Amino acid sequence: MRTDIVTDIVIVGGGAIGLAAAWRLALAGVGVIVVDGRSASPRATKAAAGMLAPSFERAERHAVAASSPALADLSLASLRMWAGFAPELEAASGQSIDFRDDGILGVATTDAEADALTRQAELMAAAGVGAELLDGRAARALEPLLAEGVIAGLLAREEAQVDPVLLVEALETAVRRAGVQIVHAIASVFENGPDGSGVRMRLASGGAISADRAIVSTGAGAFARRLSGNASIVTPVKGEALAFAPGAAVPRRVIRGRNAYICPRQDGRVVIGATERPGDASLETDDERVDGLRAAATRIVPAFERANESSRWAGLRPVAPDGAPIIGPAAGDPRVIYAIGHYRNGILLAPATAEIIRACATANSPEWPKPFLPDRFATPARKLALPSAPSSAAR
Ligand code: GLY
Repeated sequence: MRTDIVTDIVIVGGGAIGLAAAWRLALAGVGVIVVDGRSASPRATKAAAGMLAPSFERAERHAVAASSPALADLSLASLRMWAGFAPELEAASGQSIDFRDDGILGVATTDAEADALTRQAELMAAAGVGAELLDGRAARALEPLLAEGVIAGLLAREEAQVDPVLLVEALETAVRRAGVQIVHAIASVFENGPDGSGVRMRLASGGAISADRAIVSTGAGAFARRLSGNASIVTPVKGEALAFAPGAAVPRRVIRGRNAYICPRQDGRVVIGATERPGDASLETDDERVDGLRAAATRIVPAFERANESSRWAGLRPVAPDGAPIIGPAAGDPRVIYAIGHYRNGILLAPATAEIIRACATANSPEWPKPFLPDRFATPARKLALPSAPSSAAR
């Protein structure tokens, strides 16, 4: 019989949220093991475009989440944390994450889109965030690749982007350097800890990890569905995207149109995203939809007509019923902490979520931010993440 690995906190899910939390906890002296089900690619994180764009995303969000002042505040706070988080991570890992803080340029090709940019600028001004409305000519002066059909622009100076694939690689290096062990295995079930306290997580491949607490930071894929409790109320919203190979025209900064966004990468690729398919858990791409994205991007940047594509892919955004993330302990059981359901903003919200987890998981009387607590939902979210009592044979 194998003996359990014992640690302070076991984190299930090695995407941006789980790894960022692991890093912050480890730096605070907490023993952490991360269990990640896929050695190759956490599907939400690595499929993401990496925009740090709270104001543009607010316009896109789930209707309930869009009206949540708490989420708007968390998003802006996390954007501002990125200015310190990115260089600290690059220094700790010795790896670039292609962090660019030169703003995001929204563009409009119709009067209705221009009106939407004006409303967005007003919201940003009310929140004390720098926003600059531009006419078509001024937008083209900022970004010469823009089409003549662009009639207005909005430069969100504070907004930024990062490369999510490089981010995960850098976080993996940083957490390992901070003493965190990453175990690539499937977590099959949580049980009560061996001495009646804490949690024990069995791995499908055999063996188990015992910890004082577990943090669930899974996405919306099959791995999450193996877990019970809150993870099961997070559902997938599939997003498809494509990338142009190096050699295509490369814009100076991220461009957001109504039907496509355009993200330049330091390796010369340009990522174009993304579709939105609620409830679709498949990872296949649909040619018609992805061709539609390409056409939408080409209406904004005509030079993409000649661009060669290097890849198409799909990822699953994990969304809770109200579109806001679930952060905090399971109702009635402080042993299980959730950090799930970050929907379109997992990369943006990683520093703030990690900071909440670090602060609350190391405090004697933690004050979790109420708007994101799991108990805002009715059943089954109120249920503990531990399944029904395990049989002794299973131990
Ligand atoms: N945050 C962009 C997206 O989810 O497509």
